[in-house]
Amino acid sequence: MSCCSSTPLLWLFLSLSSSLFTSTRAEVPAVIVFGDSSVDSGNNNVISTLLKSNFRPYGRDFYGGQPTGRFCNGRIPPDFISEAFGLKPAIPAYLDPAYNISDFATGVCFASAGTGYDNATSKVLNVIPLWKELEYYKEYQRQLRAYVGGKKANLILREALYLMSLGTNDFMENYYTFPTRRSQFSVRQYQDFLLALCENFIRELHGLGARKLSITGLPPMGCLPLERATNILGQNDCVPEYNNVALEFNRKLEGLVVKLNRDLPGMRMVSAPAYDIFYQIITKPSQFGFEVTGLACCSTGTFEMSYLCSEYNPLTCSDANKYVFWDAFHPTQKTNKIISDHLIPLLLAMFSH
Ligand SMILES: *[C@@H]1O[C@H](CO)[C@@H](O)[C@H](O)[C@H]1NC(C)=O
Ligand SMILES: *[C@@H]1O[C@H](CO)[C@@H](O)[C@H](O)[C@H]1NC(C)=O
Repeated sequence: MSCCSSTPLLWLFLSLSSSLFTSTRAEVPAVIVFGDSSVDSGNNNVISTLLKSNFRPYGRDFYGGQPTGRFCNGRIPPDFISEAFGLKPAIPAYLDPAYNISDFATGVCFASAGTGYDNATSKVLNVIPLWKELEYYKEYQRQLRAYVGGKKANLILREALYLMSLGTNDFMENYYTFPTRRSQFSVRQYQDFLLALCENFIRELHGLGARKLSITGLPPMGCLPLERATNILGQNDCVPEYNNVALEFNRKLEGLVVKLNRDLPGMRMVSAPAYDIFYQIITKPSQFGFEVTGLACCSTGTFEMSYLCSEYNPLTCSDANKYVFWDAFHPTQKTNKIISDHLIPLLLAMFSH
């Protein structure tokens, strides 16, 4: 036997695996994003709200040190997920005038920082309500059909990976801040109210052609630096009540996902398991290479975000990689990357075929 009989086999293996790889990557032609600041790549830049982040030090670890309107020093989870599917490494915001449909055809973000499922939440800081995100998506569909033709557009819209991430603001910015919703709903009723809005949204999205959807529930919101800062009696530890509300909401969301996968023809939907890994990072920071978890990098790290997190603040940390949180409400790029790396194998397994 010749020594080299393995060469054609090796070649076959390589070409087979590379063609599998390419066909795998082609199966998700675009990533399409709805939600709040956890996934907003800059839509708030062009609306009249105080909730913005298109200035330094935001973006200082992004490509070119560029502030984009991401509430982060660098990239956010949809960027990492898009890259993992072989698409672009940063998803442009739909309202950003620097981009057009030729960019959006492979990825687009409709998210708006400060928004929630509840219309009343988006009104607090005058940001884009979720129903309006869907209106922009319908406009995007029309542009896409005009750009690539109806048939190709339908294929893109059907095979695209849709990401949804919101809900924190409904509790932290609305329910626990203003009396109106608290006078109308117990916290459990409010969870159910939000999940009913979530269900309606997903049914509409499915009706418009979406089939692959990953939805992220609530983070350990009692551990956000802003909430810790106000937990004076609890020695600035995480607020267990808020974390329990998040866990309960996420359990209910999982039930909704099962139901919608059953009800909606062709739907493939997953609830992204982000809570546990995020909680691990917060409670065992050194295992992930972090030094600080209770305070954010920006300024005093207790309450600053948006315009309060400014370039002129002398207290901002110099190395955000040591911090779990970038500002009082948002994780650093490094935290976003660890959470994304945790979710990506599941997303690839579920959606890349
Ligand atoms: C999108 O913008 C690019 C660069 O600005 C331009 O060359 C292109 O013609 C635009 N495409 C459409 C479809 O408007
Ligand atoms: C939210 O506002 C939109 C636009 O005004 C409206 O169509 C929708 O019914 C509202 N949703 C709820 C649950 O009130």
